[in-house]
Formats: sequence, C-alpha cells, structure tokens
Amino acid sequence: RIAAAPHLSGCGCSRQEAAMKVGIVGAGMVGSAAGYALALTGHASHVVLVDRNAALAQAQAEDIAHAVPFASACVVEAGDYPALAGAGVVILAAGVAQQPGETRLELLGRNAEVFAEVVAAVRSAAPDAILLIASNPVDVMTQAATRMSGLPPGRVIGSGTILDTARFRSLLARHLGIAPQSVHALVLGEHGDSEVLAWSTARAGSVPIGAFADQMGRPLTEAARAAIDEGVRRAAYRIIAGKGATWYGIGAGLARIVRAIAADQRDVLTVSMLTPEVLGVRDVALSLPRVVGAAGVLADLHPELTAEESEGLAASARLLKDSATSLGF
Ligand code: 2OP
Repeated sequence: RIAAAPHLSGCGCSRQEAAMKVGIVGAGMVGSAAGYALALTGHASHVVLVDRNAALAQAQAEDIAHAVPFASACVVEAGDYPALAGAGVVILAAGVAQQPGETRLELLGRNAEVFAEVVAAVRSAAPDAILLIASNPVDVMTQAATRMSGLPPGRVIGSGTILDTARFRSLLARHLGIAPQSVHALVLGEHGDSEVLAWSTARAGSVPIGAFADQMGRPLTEAARAAIDEGVRRAAYRIIAGKGATWYGIGAGLARIVRAIAADQRDVLTVSMLTPEVLGVRDVALSLPRVVGAAGVLADLHPELTAEESEGLAASARLLKDSATSLGF
C-alpha cells in the first residue's frame, strides 16, 4: 500500500489567486512588458495581444508564451479585436512613444487620433471590460478615453503616477537603506513634468519620513531631497535617452493594477481617473490615491498637503485641464 505523502504543512490549502482574461491593445514594449508581467505574476489566466501590426503581436505573444512554463498557467495569444470578448480588463498601450527630449504632452494630438479608433473597437468587442490606459500623455488620454467610451469614470483607469510613486518609494528606500515595500509615499497630479511629490505625507514603517531618516542616521537634507525629486521627475527622460523607451516599470505597474481588479483587492494605488473636482479644477483626469477593486475605482482620497504641495497639485490640474480642453475633451 502506498501511503499518501503529506508534502504540505499547515492547512494544506493552496493559495488561490483570482485571475482574469486581459486584453492588451498595442504590442510595443509597454504592452508586451505588461503581458509578460501578467504571465509571470499569474494575475491573468488569458492574455490577448492586439496590434495593427499583426506580425508583431504574434511574435510578442509567442515569446511571452515561452515564459509561461516557468511561471503559472496562462494562455497567451495574439488576435484581432473580436478576440477580446470576455476580457475583464483591456489595457490600451497603443500609440506613438516619446522621442528623446520630447515631453509626454507633445504626443497628445497623435495619440488622441489613434484612440478614437481603438476605444470604439474595444467597446464593441468587450463591452464589460474596465479600460486601463497606459498611452501617454496618460492623464489626457484617460480623459479622452472616458469621454469616447461613455463609461463611468471609475471604469476608465489611467496608470497615472503609479510608476512615479514606485520611483519615489524606491529612491527613498535606497536612501534610507530599507525595502521600498516599507516606504509609503505618493506622487500626485500629472504623470509628467508638473507632478507633485507629496513629501509631507511620506512615511516609513508609519514614522514620518524625515524623523525616520534622522533615526537611521541618514538625514533627508535639502540636497538629498532635491536629488530624489530630480531622480523621480527626470527618470523617464534618462531612460529614454539611454534605451529609447521605458517598459519594465510600467509593465509591472499595469500588472499590479490588474491584480487589484482581478482579486477585488481594494488596494490604495495612485492612478489617474476623470475626477469631478481637484482643488477648484473641475472634471480633470490626474492621479490621486484611490481604492481599486473589481468594479474599478471605488473611492478617491484627497490627502492633506502643505500649502506648497496643494499649489503644485492645483497647477498640475490646471495644466491637464487646459490640454484636455484644447482637444475638446
Ligand atoms: C515613463 O514615465 C515614459 O511615461 C513613461 O516611464
């Protein structure tokens, strides 16, 4: 008689990750990095890549599929819009990318034209999907996609400053010599030059960041703060100058947002959304900390800021509102 071998300790239950079908429109570096991150993390059971360059989508899907045997079960394939049917989230990463030296807002007109076509096609193929916008300038593209889709704003989420927030946490963590997971710090407003690093709200292990830094013997001097600010705000420009585009950070950030939706995690993430009012500016898409779950954005949080931070956020909101208005959104 062969005895059952108890390999599991504890309760023996296996951890179940909620996973869903995720579509990705745009199979360039950002879209495919998101697909790769989703396949590796197990937050999607099925990934469909769509691109007007079908050969590119096919090649990226095939390459990502070869990573699956090293990770968790996930079907990765390329297809046309009808293949998005049943997707719970569709990531929009289509459009042109920044050239070295170009700002995100300079991409606006070109990417809005691409979106007019893409949003209609996605809505007809996957009417129940939450749209997750990654194309730049992501805040204005989120506003445009919300208007074009007719969806409630909480179901059109822009990756916004999730990446800048990650950059801020990682540079603070490096300065303090601790894990970025133990740093809570927010970047608010535009995903772009006018973004606001909310230093006054930053904490490490629930201790205000300045006090924590002093206790660690690594004070956050004016010079250290300026270097971190520059490191966050100019990160994309440096990376684009070095390798032409950024993709790993945003790919992981998009997978993180999908996880919050797929598992109804109700995570607080800094993401962009068309917001009724931010510091006197009405109907503008920008990033605030927001609760994200299965239905999309469940709540917006307005952190207490210093007067200077509030002024910065209001200026960022006005800039974005003007850009969106100039396009008619
Ligand atoms: C980034 O910040 C370029 O928006 C992209 O990495």
